[in-house]
Amino acid sequence: MIDKDEQRAELVLPEKSVSFPITESSVGDQGIDIRRLRSETGLITYDPGLANTAACKSAITFLDGENGVLMHHGYRIEDLAENCVFLEVAVLLITGSLPNREERSQFTRLMNKNSMLHEGMIRFFDNYPERAHPMAILSAMVVSLSAFYPEIIREDNDTPLDETITNLLSKMRTIAAFSYKKSIGEPFVYPSYKLRYVENFLNMMFSSPVANYHIDPVVEAVMNKFLILHADHEQNASTTVVRGVGSSGTNLYASIAAGISSLWGSMHGGANQAVIEMLEDIRVSGKSVKQVVEQAKDKSNPFRLMGFGHRVYKTYDPRARIAKESCRELLKHLGIDNDPLLDVAMELEEAALADDYFKEKSLYPNVDFYTGIAYRAIGIPTNMFTVMFALGRLPGWIAHWLEMRQDTDQRIVRPRQVYIGQKPRAFVPVEERL
Ligand code: ACO
Repeated sequence: MIDKDEQRAELVLPEKSVSFPITESSVGDQGIDIRRLRSETGLITYDPGLANTAACKSAITFLDGENGVLMHHGYRIEDLAENCVFLEVAVLLITGSLPNREERSQFTRLMNKNSMLHEGMIRFFDNYPERAHPMAILSAMVVSLSAFYPEIIREDNDTPLDETITNLLSKMRTIAAFSYKKSIGEPFVYPSYKLRYVENFLNMMFSSPVANYHIDPVVEAVMNKFLILHADHEQNASTTVVRGVGSSGTNLYASIAAGISSLWGSMHGGANQAVIEMLEDIRVSGKSVKQVVEQAKDKSNPFRLMGFGHRVYKTYDPRARIAKESCRELLKHLGIDNDPLLDVAMELEEAALADDYFKEKSLYPNVDFYTGIAYRAIGIPTNMFTVMFALGRLPGWIAHWLEMRQDTDQRIVRPRQVYIGQKPRAFVPVEERL
């Protein structure tokens, strides 16, 4: 029972009633503050996947899954994706404000200064097998940054945009491009002070000593947009991991490396790779989209429609809408009139959205459904898709890690459990065991 006037929620138990304060939000869901629950009642809550649990207060991102609204520090994702470059959104997430011209130049200078990798780290690449998944390399290399660049955010620093943060933002892009070059056996292309963030990434990926890469401004714009779409999504799985790992006092790089590992899974960021694999499979096997939709509905089959469904969105993911439109524009610009995978994707979306199972469960395409088709058209290989997601999500992870460190309510993440194992029993000496 919630008493709106008193701003308290009452829990009525057989022997007593206990009331808990309501934690007010500025917009959206309010929370029942149950910090005294166990000490007052001896009970704990059971909430697998923490689907109903706010583990923190946050001022970074607002998400309304029922109405398809996503905002960062009050700005709608549609406005940010249309009008900003990725680095502006990174600054917004980390500092709370969009940078003015001078702040943007200052940030760009710091990014440039920190873009190179220590030569000792570059030698690590020699020892990865060529078939190594770039997410494995990315996670390992990011945690290794803490060995090579041990200065950690100083608590007394007024500006959070310090070397540690730009070091990570800039170097992770270099690591991502180098892991691709390693996989194709080509020499690394170093970052250049002459290029902007996305241009630099494309150049490190696709130019070589024998072939200059022409940076197409439309490709650059789409890439900026996609990075913005991924930049933050409040308490998603990987961000929760970053906060959780950081809650024990772990440094930024190590916390982010754990986030990268969490993102890799196919239910999270790994879905963009899984979507393309699923679409390819449909195309090659000749299965009809109807068959695939039926397969996704079959509870005896673990298969799910990849790129569909979301824990929070119960309507069309606003990021998916933007990604779909950008993907179409990009293919048109590149002169790809017929991409068989785009055709399959659109047919599959239409079939799923018309199906009662998907309607009843409010399952819509998520951000991962269309991005892979665009990445493929740009020439990014499938196993790099989740790396692209990680590059986009990085400022969000950093912002949450910083917010977590400054939150006076924050405690080490250490949930409870409902134990369902053996009750106490007598010890059996080895010679008496059956
Ligand atoms: N295909 C078929 N059925 C689905 C799908 C899907 N893609 N997604 C959810 N369902 C069904 C579930 O089986 C469940 O059915 P039930 O109520 O009969 O048991 C119901 O819809 C609710 O799904 P949950 O698994 O409870 O939803 P949850 O919030 O735990 O999971 C998730 C969300 C992981 C995204 C899920 O929808 C999924 O696996 N989707 C496919 C993978 C994917 O696209 N992941 C990317 C997510 S977005 C991101 O990280 C960028």
